[in-house]
Amino acid sequence: MSEKSRMGGGRIMARLIVLLGSLAYIMILAVINGSLGFVSAMGVTLMGAVGIAKALGEGIALSYGWIIALAVGFGVLRGALRYAEQYSNHYIAFRLLAVLRDKIFGALRVLCPAKLESKQKGAIIAMITSDIETLEVFYAHTISPICIAVVVSSAVFVFVGCVSSWYLALAALCGYLAIGVILPLISSKLMRSGGVGYRAEFSSFNAYFLDSIKGVKDIVLNNGEEARLGEVDRRSDRLLDYTKRLKRKTATAAGLTEIFVSVFVILTLIVGIVLVSQGALSLGKMIVGVVAVFGSFGPVIAISALPGNLTQTFASGDRVLKLLDEKPVVRPVTNGKDIDFKQVETIDLSFGYDKSERVLKDVCMHAEKGEIVGIVGASGCGKSTLLKLLMRFWERDAGYIEYDGVDVDAVNSDSLTDNVTMVSQSTYLFDESIADNLRIAKPDASIEELRAACRKASVDDFVMSLPDGYDTKVGALGDDLSAGEKQRIGLARAFLHDGKLILLDEPTSNVDSINEGMILKALKDGRAGKSIILVSHRESTMAIADRIYRVDGGRMSEVK
Ligand SMILES: Nc1ncnc2c1ncn2[C@@H]1O[C@H](COP(=O)(O)OP(=O)(O)O)[C@@H](O)[C@H]1O
Ligand SMILES: [Mg+2]
Repeated sequence: MSEKSRMGGGRIMARLIVLLGSLAYIMILAVINGSLGFVSAMGVTLMGAVGIAKALGEGIALSYGWIIALAVGFGVLRGALRYAEQYSNHYIAFRLLAVLRDKIFGALRVLCPAKLESKQKGAIIAMITSDIETLEVFYAHTISPICIAVVVSSAVFVFVGCVSSWYLALAALCGYLAIGVILPLISSKLMRSGGVGYRAEFSSFNAYFLDSIKGVKDIVLNNGEEARLGEVDRRSDRLLDYTKRLKRKTATAAGLTEIFVSVFVILTLIVGIVLVSQGALSLGKMIVGVVAVFGSFGPVIAISALPGNLTQTFASGDRVLKLLDEKPVVRPVTNGKDIDFKQVETIDLSFGYDKSERVLKDVCMHAEKGEIVGIVGASGCGKSTLLKLLMRFWERDAGYIEYDGVDVDAVNSDSLTDNVTMVSQSTYLFDESIADNLRIAKPDASIEELRAACRKASVDDFVMSLPDGYDTKVGALGDDLSAGEKQRIGLARAFLHDGKLILLDEPTSNVDSINEGMILKALKDGRAGKSIILVSHRESTMAIADRIYRVDGGRMSEVK
């Protein structure tokens, strides 16, 4: 996602509008309501001007009674239209959040798990949160005011031109362009650096503060309160500084807008007076024209007050669109073969995350039904990578991976995950009950099934000793769950899932030797005919393996 490959602003905007889909109609509705709302607001004062023009002897067909009734009518209509406009804008805003999130999650589902593996996790979280919010503001609070300003300003231009004078209309048009186009361009340039700096400082301050709270124990233990507090103060002052600068610029821009409005109101009035004094326009028509122009700056003022600049929106739009365009490293297989695991084999398998550097080179290995196969090797030698290739998280570069003689790319994805389960290096437990955490592997599992799986993983006794047994909330336990206990719950999940091949990535890496012994014993006793591929950098873990491969520099050899 380099700056170089950024799409142009126009293309981003066009594609974002296409993304709206059927919501575009509601957007049009919002623009119509908004425009009519402004027009009826102007109608109230305009009726006053019409009344004065009639008193001045202008030939106006409406009676005074009608003029008053219309003024009141416009006032009420203004309220109703404003309501309708707000309603449609908010409807769009919330629907949009849902639509955009749905699209991003849809894209991520196809891109994962490879996508979540990469170092862009933070960027994805930022996209799901702030980029989507930015786009929501763009659709609901940027496009619609711009459209309303164009519609209302054009309507007033034509109205004043036809009813009063084209010179007045021209003066108004200059005002619209200056306030709605030139001024926003200038102020967005003025504000760009300030806005970006402020946002960066704001998120950095937030992150630092949150981090400090999370690590408060370690700060106190290391007697670092003073230093930490000092830094929080310094950063807070810097943020205040940025805020002040940004506010000053915002205030300058707002002030400039007001001055411009006054200047053009006076200019229109002067043009009107000149026209009347030269006899080119009657006083009544001049009053109607000038009053119409006076009341018509609202929509263009709204543009000059648009949130920040479009740069930020385009950056967000660019990131979201890029994600939607991204091709997944692997596509789910649905029209392939189903397997009933008996054997897996790799032949001359090669792979690299980066095409220039191979992580695995010509790897040959196999695992048969009922076997425990160990893979041992130093940290970073590619053991986890091999497991991910067996799960088809990534596509291999060369060689073969075959399940029961069927190429892994031809095995239906559902069938693959039914047959093969992976327990990763650290088991993540959700802040729910232990039972809920286990049921992720099998949603309709009975409590008996849960206990059976936990017995196999040697963790049933532990769970039963908790205050609420299987209903104990993980969050309530806080840090009381040891890495070994978590890992065994992860193992129980795998047993519950009932796949025929279990891939274990460093199941004992975070635990002491007592726990390691328990986990290995659980594996050996609980596997009941399942096949296991066990990966570890520790030799001791290999004790239960029937056969062992060693990986070194991406190459693999059988050692036992
Ligand atoms: N998603 C990834 N993108 C790029 N490089 C990766 C990725 N995952 C792992 N690597 C690199 O591949 C090599 C092997 O990693 P890994 O298979 O996790 O090793 P092991 O599990 O044996 O410790 C390491 O150099 C690691 O930095
Ligand atoms: Mg690893």
